[in-house]
Amino acid sequence: MGARITGTGSYLPSNLVSNEQLESLVDTSNEWIVQRTGIRSRHLLDEAEIPSDMGVEAGRLALKAAKVAPEDVDLLLVATTFPDMICPGSAPFIAEGLSLTDAPFFDLKAGCSGFVYGVAVANGLIESGLFPRVLVVGVEALSRVTDWTDRRTCVLFGDGAGAVLLEPGAQSSGVLGTALYGDAEKSMFLHLPAGGTRTPASVETVTQGGHFLKMEGSGVFRNAAPMMEKATMVALENAKLELSDVDWIIPHQANKRIVDALVHRLDVPEERIIVNLDRVANTSTASIPIALDEEIRSGKIHPGDIIVMTAFGAGVTYGAIVVKA
Ligand code: UT7
Repeated sequence: MGARITGTGSYLPSNLVSNEQLESLVDTSNEWIVQRTGIRSRHLLDEAEIPSDMGVEAGRLALKAAKVAPEDVDLLLVATTFPDMICPGSAPFIAEGLSLTDAPFFDLKAGCSGFVYGVAVANGLIESGLFPRVLVVGVEALSRVTDWTDRRTCVLFGDGAGAVLLEPGAQSSGVLGTALYGDAEKSMFLHLPAGGTRTPASVETVTQGGHFLKMEGSGVFRNAAPMMEKATMVALENAKLELSDVDWIIPHQANKRIVDALVHRLDVPEERIIVNLDRVANTSTASIPIALDEEIRSGKIHPGDIIVMTAFGAGVTYGAIVVKA
């Protein structure tokens, strides 16, 4: 038995922020952001909003679409890089918000690849028979760890959540192949220096901005497309499929130039690539499930379509999953 996606959901905060609005915060321009990234706007949480509430709403919609009651969920797996609190994470808050009864829950931290990792892990748990129904939520509130005075990062990110419910299905449907990788030598490409146990938060770390995300943008940029290409090809091989069998590719929505480089490397028609980063920017581990949910609801993705979802992110982690819708 493989795992089948039986419901999807997503949530974006209502506050839509344009590139032009960022021009008043840092020395940037709409032209630079569009040319270098393809991003035009992003949804950002208001101060009073709670990040995990986005995951609750995405999860609720996924359960509704699957017609499954919260009490029938066997495991909640929350992919998030920046949880509500280092302890206890985000999963308990989402479990509480969804009124899950007794189901175990945990956070999975694999950077922007978290959702791809999460579905692969959930698939293994379903195949083993350990947990038949797994709700995978990808949720990220990058605005809360962004240095809003740093133009190199603040224009790139958005907030949001996406979710899928996975249930046992026939071997020929659902998750057909996976490929996960790590490259620990690049662990400092994306990191948040302070507030963990290595460098606990102090007046000094806050003064130095150690609670903000740091990124070596060009290092990430150079590696992203080759990593997603490798993971895509291996996941397809594991699924015993060819690139020509694929109806849709949903890459991690970080930068349109990275997506274009992936399209070029794979030599696939651009019409088969799903892109929403122009509207929502980079929502890290939420980016793929948001795009998946949007296009299932729009009717672009049909039941039976073969979809490759591929991501890279902090760690450095990368991977791909092949799914039959
Ligand atoms: O989910 C994974 C997370 N991260 C990523 O995926 C990020 C991957 N990296 C990227 O997308 C790109 O590297 C960036 C978009 C971050 C940067 O694009 P780039 O073409 O690599 O630009 P760059 O870093 O080489 O910077 C070029 C210039 C620099 O000015 P100087 O030194 O040439 O005078 C930057 O200071 O652009 C400047 N710059 C900006 N200018 C206006 C950097 N950010 C901005 C900005 N507005 N927002």
